[in-house]
Amino acid sequence: MATSTSLSFFYSVLFLLLSSAIAATSFRPKALVLPVTKHPSLQYITQIRQRTPLVPLKLTVDLGSQFMWVDCDRGYISSTYKPARCRSAQCNLASKSSGCGQCFSPPRPGCNNNTCSLFPGNTIIHLSTSGELASDVVSVSSTDGFNPTKPVTVPNFLFVCGTTFLLDGLAGGVTGMAGFGRNGISLPSQFSAAFSFNRKFAICLSGSTSFPGVIFSGNGPYHFLPNIDLTDSLTYTPLFINPVSTAGVFTTGEKSTEYFIGVKSIVINSKTVPLNTTLLKIDSNGVGGTKISTVDPYTVLESSIYNAVLKTFTTALKNIPRVAAVAPFGACFNAKSISSTRLGPGVPSIELILQNKKVIWRIFGANSMVHVKDDVLCLGFVDGGVNPRTSIVIGAHQIENNLLEFDLATSRLGFSATLLGRMTTCANFNFTSKP
Ligand SMILES: *[C@@H]1O[C@H](CO)[C@@H](O)[C@H](O)[C@H]1NC(C)=O
Ligand SMILES: *[C@@H]1O[C@H](CO)[C@@H](O)[C@H](O)[C@H]1NC(C)=O
Ligand SMILES: *[C@@H]1O[C@H](CO)[C@@H](O)[C@H](O)[C@H]1NC(C)=O
Repeated sequence: MATSTSLSFFYSVLFLLLSSAIAATSFRPKALVLPVTKHPSLQYITQIRQRTPLVPLKLTVDLGSQFMWVDCDRGYISSTYKPARCRSAQCNLASKSSGCGQCFSPPRPGCNNNTCSLFPGNTIIHLSTSGELASDVVSVSSTDGFNPTKPVTVPNFLFVCGTTFLLDGLAGGVTGMAGFGRNGISLPSQFSAAFSFNRKFAICLSGSTSFPGVIFSGNGPYHFLPNIDLTDSLTYTPLFINPVSTAGVFTTGEKSTEYFIGVKSIVINSKTVPLNTTLLKIDSNGVGGTKISTVDPYTVLESSIYNAVLKTFTTALKNIPRVAAVAPFGACFNAKSISSTRLGPGVPSIELILQNKKVIWRIFGANSMVHVKDDVLCLGFVDGGVNPRTSIVIGAHQIENNLLEFDLATSRLGFSATLLGRMTTCANFNFTSKP
């Protein structure tokens, strides 16, 4: 209860800080929409506009990370850049344990004295540094759930200044990362505070590098061509809070901002995969459990889970000729021997059993198998080694063409199951703007 009281206090502060956004726009949107494009590097890239004058920014999406960070070293020009002072309200909102930064070069964005200092991290190559918290104008399209509608601005959108070396390993043209995690200054938290809509967002990754998927922030509906409304067809499962931060740099007592769900068992072809169920729970050190990630291209399983899944899956496919494994995968098959179905390659589904036996996340062929080359299909799961921090990391390939709705207020995940079964895809949001 203490947590929920302090959280609501927290969001009222955020609301006060950001509510000037409403005055700046002539109408109050119900939701915002962002495109999210799959890059050949298997990063998922969104685009927003920031600064005065506005410039488009490409940012790698990191579902569970805390905030937006951008490279302020190169080409940051804006008349509305404001560093956040130490011990300011913005600073408290961002973190209870931020440092107070000094900079021994001429002042510029990213280099000011007495500013709130946080740790922007590149979660693709696992590198963090320190950077100042700042605010600037951000502009995003609003949506009615069918199309983008007018662009709206948030005048004092908080983000952290990163540096040019922190861009290593990010896709070409990308100048930062966008965090959608469970904390005060993630993108969805700031958007919902600025426009006072529900603290929820939905993400739908496209499997195609040519046609973008979509992220909604705020309320539904979630409408896809041809005339398919997914709003009321989600299955829900609780989201869990990992009591120990999973960020690159953190202080004792910080919780993880990533999204954990409760997988109780895994079933393939009606056979329960034999697992050490202790690994499926988050222990008091924050180790174990199941999280969802957009920065891991494929699901990563702790070694014993990986081996057991591989064994059960290959046993179920024993009549299909195996071919030499192609890294990073451990089980590959002759694709010619696997039929093609509406839901992808015709293989048994991998069922994640959630809070009870009736709540099942079914992973069908399109999400379980990866076409690595002509005639070779591999099981798209990778070995995470022994003693990883998190036992199951559900990766991007497994969530493509599935709509996932993260409701921070009710702490639950809504999932659609594969949209291929609904005769649509995540690339079917109609991005033609309505005036
Ligand atoms: C910060 O303060 C130090 C010490 O007073 C000074 O040398 C430095 O120039 C200042 N830096 C900026 C960016 O104002
Ligand atoms: C199950 O996993 C836990 C956590 O890693 C470990 O302590 C325990 O020894 C394992 N049990 C078995 C039977 O392997
Ligand atoms: C997409 O939306 C635009 C604007 O509302 C509309 O004119 C167009 O017909 C829509 N496209 C399809 C394929 O329905």
